[in-house]
Amino acid sequence: MLSPYVPRLLVDWLRTYPDRAWRQVEGTLAFVDISGFTKMTERLARKGKVGAEEMNDLLNACFTELLRVAYADGAGLVKWGGDAVLLLFQGENHAARACRAAHGMRRSLRGIGRLPSSAGFVTLRMSVGIHSGRFDVFLAGDLHRELILAGPAASHTVAMESTAEAGQILVSEATARQLHPRFVGLPKGEGFLLKGAPNVPAQEAEPPPDVSGLDLTRCLPVGIRDHLLSGSGEPEHRHVSVAFIEFRGADDCLREKGPDALADALDRCIKDVQEACARHGVTFFETDIGKDGGKIMLVAGAPSSSGNDEAGMLNAVRRIMDRSTALPLRIGVNCGRVFAGDFGPSFRRTYSVKGDAVNLAARVMGKAEPGQILVTEAVLARSSIRFHVQTLEPFSVKGKTRPVHAYALGAAAGRKAIETWDLPLVGREAELATLRQALESATRRRGRVVELVGEPGIGKSRLVNELLAGSLDMTVIVARCEMYEASTPYFPLRTVLWEVLGIRDDRDRAMAATRFRDRIEANAPHLLPWLPLLGIPSGIEVPMTPEVEQLGDEFRRARLIDVSSEFLAWVLPTTTVLVFDDVHWMDEGSAELLRRLTEDVADRPWLILVTRREQEEGFHLPGGAGTTLRLEALRAADAADLVQAATEQLPMPQHEMVTLAKRSGGNPLFLRELVSAARSAGSVAALPDTVEGLMTSQIDRLHPADRTLLRTASVLGTSFSPAFPPSRSWPGSAVGNSWGRTSRGCFGSATSSSATRRTRGSPSAGGESSTAESPNGSNGPAAASSPNFSHCISSTPSSTRKPGDTRALLGSGPRQSTRSQTRETCTGERWKPRDIFRPCPRSNWRLPTRLWGTSGTGWACTRRRPGPTGTPVDSLPGTRWPRPRSSSRSPGSASDLANTGRRWRGSPGATASWATWKDRKPWPDGPSSRLGMRPSGRGRDATTR
Ligand SMILES: Nc1ncnc2c1ncn2[C@@H]1O[C@H](COP(=O)(O)OP(=O)(O)O)[C@@H](O)[C@H]1O
Ligand SMILES: [Mg+2]
Repeated sequence: MLSPYVPRLLVDWLRTYPDRAWRQVEGTLAFVDISGFTKMTERLARKGKVGAEEMNDLLNACFTELLRVAYADGAGLVKWGGDAVLLLFQGENHAARACRAAHGMRRSLRGIGRLPSSAGFVTLRMSVGIHSGRFDVFLAGDLHRELILAGPAASHTVAMESTAEAGQILVSEATARQLHPRFVGLPKGEGFLLKGAPNVPAQEAEPPPDVSGLDLTRCLPVGIRDHLLSGSGEPEHRHVSVAFIEFRGADDCLREKGPDALADALDRCIKDVQEACARHGVTFFETDIGKDGGKIMLVAGAPSSSGNDEAGMLNAVRRIMDRSTALPLRIGVNCGRVFAGDFGPSFRRTYSVKGDAVNLAARVMGKAEPGQILVTEAVLARSSIRFHVQTLEPFSVKGKTRPVHAYALGAAAGRKAIETWDLPLVGREAELATLRQALESATRRRGRVVELVGEPGIGKSRLVNELLAGSLDMTVIVARCEMYEASTPYFPLRTVLWEVLGIRDDRDRAMAATRFRDRIEANAPHLLPWLPLLGIPSGIEVPMTPEVEQLGDEFRRARLIDVSSEFLAWVLPTTTVLVFDDVHWMDEGSAELLRRLTEDVADRPWLILVTRREQEEGFHLPGGAGTTLRLEALRAADAADLVQAATEQLPMPQHEMVTLAKRSGGNPLFLRELVSAARSAGSVAALPDTVEGLMTSQIDRLHPADRTLLRTASVLGTSFSPAFPPSRSWPGSAVGNSWGRTSRGCFGSATSSSATRRTRGSPSAGGESSTAESPNGSNGPAAASSPNFSHCISSTPSSTRKPGDTRALLGSGPRQSTRSQTRETCTGERWKPRDIFRPCPRSNWRLPTRLWGTSGTGWACTRRRPGPTGTPVDSLPGTRWPRPRSSSRSPGSASDLANTGRRWRGSPGATASWATWKDRKPWPDGPSSRLGMRPSGRGRDATTR
């Protein structure tokens, strides 16, 4: 499964010299850069899911053809870098074969001329740099092994490509010497233009590399490997944050200190980057060759999102720059929407992101000085963490008409203040009463633990604040767990200890050891010998004692936890509320301590409050150890009150208020953000960044089949008939199973007609609020009888990354993602390339078969294809299928599209074509027989014209 993603060069290396970090390979390197894709990505991006699918088809078509030409001449693709590929030719006549391949690729690209897409025509062009010689190749890093080409020969190849203009193939002198003079044209820069295709014997195409017995998971960056193994390969548009890190000095290092020194420097550099990425939830994406070094590309937000990708990215690059001493670095960061997907021919594929946002990150990096991190305004604005920055003069970059505003990134300066226009608390009476009772019990020295569980933004922290607002006569310690500190041992415990010791700033820190000792001497002198153990979680250096020194390693943790619990009991003898916020991000050590505190709390005057999301990670309250309050969506009436309160100053029309309350699905954070987005955008259609980020990270946690189900179901709205037939459309598929599980959890029996009736017209905004006090946290039965489908799904007990985990996301948040049906959705089968690609009459390319409306939007596959029920589509009565076009350039007529559309509309499920609809309105609730397919908005316009 992973082998098409790994270069043959790396496979051979691991087979022959697995332990070597450096090798030289003799051959010819062709750096082939294709321009035009970014423009196409940007245009297609406006079409959402449709655009992503089409982009993927075009990339597949393009690279399948180009690599077919190159591989016929014995190429091996070493790197995919942006829109470029790096091809290595080895063996006899490598220089001539490389030149012939490049020539053939250019001819192929020219043959196609302007590439047609549903968003208009795009001209693809390529520039190629070719150099022959001995190339230095390195293997670096530990979390995965990264192949890097660096050194003078690689630099020379880059120089050739950057001198070549679009449409030109430039060969170096070393390559030219190996060609017949008639193929060497005019000199340009340090190279020569290629003139014609050398005629040398063809080399047998190499069989795919033998990967048996090799652990290929080590050859791919962690995030990408997990994504590929999960099988969730649907192309999509995502918001991501992208960084380019350039390392330099490779050529001098190699010349002066030798290959081992450079191998060592590269290894340290890559390890630093890998460590920072792992720590901050960023994906190490790929490396690319560069002049005198290379580039490392990092992405936060694809393949999966952490919820605040900008903060993660900025933390990661700051850490990389602060720690890296191996090679001089400069970094550029930008964010934006990109296309993300897997593409390439079956024998050589890649997972890639494409778009203007990526290019701008690279250009911003190009403006950075060595040692500097430049970030664009958008990244800083979206980051939840503030950084010290230095403002730069706006500068212009290639491809941008407006000057770019960028900043030099300094140190982190703390979390951004959360918006304070706090609204009055609505609802939650029962939960608040339970909390007050627990607090009252703590004041009577009967300690209690309460766990608040719920999705982000549902009001966990708010409820805690509400409780504490009136509790002035007690000690309150709030320890927040942070996503980026989830692997820092004892991170929240440190907050507790510092609070207890009164450490607030560096001055306090200097005296911390003395304070610690004084405090223990005064309160619990018998713990003095164990002071060094308490020093570990608090990060305070304390002189070693014989007791701790003699303690075996295997007993340290248990002792540390005993001592910490006892210490806290001594120093917090009066009524205390200990809040551990967001414990789904709690590290293992702290979780163990917290479990211990919950066991010991019964006879202490403490209320321990724990808030968490419904996830597997982090801390979970052991069964029977306390009370679990599950916060569900606000009741419809409460949601309406909240909108009313939020719009009090600037009232909104009633129908808009109702729309917002519904869209929020009863989530107060979403509601607040939707109101504020509606204000600034002037329309209720906008989806704010904060909500999108949170939803994306939630959706990314789902099993791929659930994600597909969710995507498809998002067109239906929050309520629909349980008789909706996707399981028939996905017979035996993972998505069908996912639907089966989800609907069973919801309706008991998915086809119950009373459930159908109850489903429609539910008055709830996001379902009824319910409070469950249950040790195991399950509230399944409530879900089964719930009147609203979305609520049923949101209530289905689940854990992360398991099929059937489609919760909360369908209805209780704003409708997310795309409104499209994929081919699989409609037919239950995957279309094979031959079904959707047809040969282009002017070249031998196979292009996606599409039908264009007059204005270039709305499209459909026009090929005959039997439906899942076995009915050939074009034998359905009354269907007139458009004839395949005779030229790739002529669009189908609007009436063809309209006919196709009418047919779809009347025959759900049975018609076997793929449709998509561009307009963003959900299909209205209605009988399942109407849930067929529907042509694009423009297509329908065309009918009426
Ligand atoms: N019941 C409620 N009434 C009014 N506002 C609320 C309510 N619950 C939450 N909010 C507001 O919604 C936002 C998100 O709540 P928060 O407590 O931070 O969510 P969580 O901790 O569950 O992620 C906050 O601005 C909070 O004030
Ligand atoms: Mg919170």
